[in-house]
Amino acid sequence: MPDSVLNGLSYERSQAKWESFMEQSGRVLLVAEVPYDEAEGAPCRRSEGRVVGFAAAGPAMGTAPSARDGEVYAIYVLKRYQGQGIGRMLLEAAAGYLYGLGREAMIVRVLSENPYRAFYERLGATPVRTEELEIAGVVLAETVYRWADTGVLRRSRTGPPGSSRRGA
Ligand SMILES: CC(C)(COP(=O)(O)OP(=O)(O)OC[C@H]1O[C@@H](n2cnc3c(N)ncnc32)[C@H](O)[C@@H]1OP(=O)(O)O)[C@@H](O)C(=O)NCCC(=O)NCCS
Repeated sequence: MPDSVLNGLSYERSQAKWESFMEQSGRVLLVAEVPYDEAEGAPCRRSEGRVVGFAAAGPAMGTAPSARDGEVYAIYVLKRYQGQGIGRMLLEAAAGYLYGLGREAMIVRVLSENPYRAFYERLGATPVRTEELEIAGVVLAETVYRWADTGVLRRSRTGPPGSSRRGA
């Protein structure tokens, strides 16, 4: 990401952007939480768990391989909680949600230089094409990964303990 983009990030702007983004029809924000007593780092209310990961999903944006594709717009797991199966659970939950919308196929757009992109290959996605993304005057390459049938994700789903759904 260009430095100008990273330096311009602010909590308030991000919150406003996400709130308006998630208000659009068919979108969901899935979160993974750990109990308060196990939480480390940022403070949270005792009555709530601490969010350690999230996935945002909904109908595919832009030109997708098929107009009926679903898309995972973003998925993140806090560094300390990576490698414990949380990313898989979020992706499986997103696939289940999109299937409920009648979307069996799912894409995710990943910066081609993202070192984490192998995660999607590990979970059965295939790179289908590259696109250009312009941010602050800088053109970045994105790889579009696709599951033509997310059955492979939905069937392996065991149910994410401690995860819940927020959003439309
Ligand atoms: C990518 C990310 C969401 C994965 O979440 P995670 O909780 O660490 O992943 P999991 O523990 O559920 O891993 C599921 C499987 O993927 C594999 N995997 C995870 N990260 C991987 C990677 N970088 N390369 C290859 N395989 C990977 C795991 O080994 C595991 O395989 P297994 O079930 O056969 O053992 C997380 O690492 C992350 O948030 N990264 C930084 C943010 C980011 O780049 N997000 C993507 C933006 S598009």
